[in-house]
Amino acid sequence: MSATQHYLQLEEQFGAHNYHPIPVVLEKGEGVFLWDVEGKRYYDFLSGYSAVNQGHCHPAIIKTLIGQAQRLTLTSRAFHNNLLGEYAEFITTYFGYDKVLPMNTGVEGGETAIKLARRWGYVKKGIPDNQAKIIFAEGNFWGRTMAAISSSTDPSSYKGFGPYMPGFGLVPYDDLAALEAALSNPDVAAFMVEPIQGEAGVVIPHDGYLRGVRELCSRYNVLFIADEIQTGLARTGKMLACDHENVRPDILILGKALSGGTLPVSAILADDEIMMNIKPGEHGSTYGGNPLACAVAMTALQVLKEENMAGNAEAMGQLLRDELAKLNSPLIKLIRGKGLLNAIVIDHPDADAAWELCLHLKDLGLLAKPTHGDKIRFAPPLLINEAQIRECASIIGQALALMK
Ligand SMILES: Cc1ncc(COP(=O)(O)O)c(C=O)c1O
Repeated sequence: MSATQHYLQLEEQFGAHNYHPIPVVLEKGEGVFLWDVEGKRYYDFLSGYSAVNQGHCHPAIIKTLIGQAQRLTLTSRAFHNNLLGEYAEFITTYFGYDKVLPMNTGVEGGETAIKLARRWGYVKKGIPDNQAKIIFAEGNFWGRTMAAISSSTDPSSYKGFGPYMPGFGLVPYDDLAALEAALSNPDVAAFMVEPIQGEAGVVIPHDGYLRGVRELCSRYNVLFIADEIQTGLARTGKMLACDHENVRPDILILGKALSGGTLPVSAILADDEIMMNIKPGEHGSTYGGNPLACAVAMTALQVLKEENMAGNAEAMGQLLRDELAKLNSPLIKLIRGKGLLNAIVIDHPDADAAWELCLHLKDLGLLAKPTHGDKIRFAPPLLINEAQIRECASIIGQALALMK
């Protein structure tokens, strides 16, 4: 039995079957590369669903991680630690908000944003008790908790897990008229939206959508919550995807690359008008704001700026889309993306053609994963260079040629 088979079999036998991974077992990462247990090297074109924007095991982030881990990792919020205040000042200055609320996973960030919005709705907007509504866009993905799946339009996410969270509404994505109709209900506290829908297959709204969202939310006194967990932190060629339209959400949710892929760190940013409605004892998390996370997040954010990762993502994303277009493959129905958050849509009669293509890509040394059947996301770490992009485009061309 090969080492790969051994590990696959262990997971199969002892792990819950809640994922369907590409059959590769990884044991090492550096920059844009991953290595499997047989010693084979791959380009990483998923980046841990955009958690590894800074590249695998970024030396500065790992140095901070190890240094802080040897000093102090967790105090809980029962006590203060010497890094939380410093981190709070750092990240609020970095993004221009009054306050930060630190959590761990992305989905906790979404939950926190919704709690903040509901509370703001009751205290500031005057919504009657227990009537607050939160609006989401169809096709959204923000995690797997009961609240997250209650707003989902994907049956594989919500089916068989009811009853669902009340007080949620849906509008089509990229549809300002539908949004206006929903927001005119005075009980609506917030609209939560991804600036680009990542899991849905990198669905990019029309230019002006985010500005329209901002205007409508302001007009109807509704909070604009931007879920930048996947799009933020330089992934799309700007520090935030909202920066492409120069809009500032009322609540900004960050996660994933906030730790450069080393540990779960999320952050919810908002001004006092929103954040100060939550009082001691009303929200929190054992690990939220732990000194290890605070130290790592500061370095992870510094690295993004110091290494101009947004600029590189913008340039390399353009090059990648150009190179993919040049392949001129009849199997690629659509190439879309912003910065290094890209996807292709496969045109093939077989329902599992995207999966097949990913297996060929794996054999040729590039790891990617289909989303929603016929779409494949191409989202490498943001430090990828021109020669590497060209090599990857050539690998993708070779994989396409192997398709029947
Ligand atoms: C836009 C968006 N929001 C939220 C989440 C949930 O993050 P986590 O898996 O860390 O809970 C994801 C994860 O893919 C995401 O893409």
